[in-house]
Amino acid sequence: MEVIVVKDKFAGGKKAAEIFKREHDSGAKVFGLATGGTPETTYAELTKSDLDFSDDVSINLDEYVGLGANDEQSYHYYMQKHLFDEKPFKKSYLPDGTDLDAAKETAHYSEIIAQNPIDLQLLGIGENGHIGFNEPGSAFDSKTSKIHLTDSTIKANARYFDKPEDVPQYAYSMGIGEIMNAKHILLEAFGKNKAEAIKAMIEGPMTEDVPASVLQNHPQVTVIVDEEAATLLA
Ligand code: F6R
Repeated sequence: MEVIVVKDKFAGGKKAAEIFKREHDSGAKVFGLATGGTPETTYAELTKSDLDFSDDVSINLDEYVGLGANDEQSYHYYMQKHLFDEKPFKKSYLPDGTDLDAAKETAHYSEIIAQNPIDLQLLGIGENGHIGFNEPGSAFDSKTSKIHLTDSTIKANARYFDKPEDVPQYAYSMGIGEIMNAKHILLEAFGKNKAEAIKAMIEGPMTEDVPASVLQNHPQVTVIVDEEAATLLA
């Protein structure tokens, strides 16, 4: 695991965009993407860059169950706004939150991931160590599934909704096993609220209680953390 400490999220976004460019220049065609506050500076840098994704595929990690693409809190909407409007891909996949048949939608998404092996997967990390929406206790070999979000995740994401009760309780998420199949994983974490999760991910035991700790077992992981998220590292 390569750990790069940067001053702040803006420097982090620049560094991450450099890695996207390097991978793209060396032939990467399938990009796994994340949402949330963390990748915003990366998407801002990609948007400003001369990178052209019009021949590439993107596959997002997750989507809230029940939210459609026009819903401003949906991850479809987020991706459109932060990246795709400016940098369209040939094909972009996200789980369909409006398909309430979980068995069908998750099997379909797993099929998409299997058919489009991910070259570079961008990840954030939850304060509880989740990656994608794979909450503590998720199996390390899991595939796409419907996840019951924990109170910690609902609380963390309530900032995007009018009130905490509006945060959906369930999400469809790419599984940990599928994330681990990506050739190169790029995880970003900014801010002191991520410091404990980052320490547990890098220095703690590999345990399903800290989903991100599975990355200790992946051959190519780059971690970009700002000084605050790095404060507890040895
Ligand atoms: C988002 C995702 C989540 C977030 C994590 C951190 O697609 O899969 O794992 O990366 O919850 O969220 P932020 O970046 O908002 O702190």
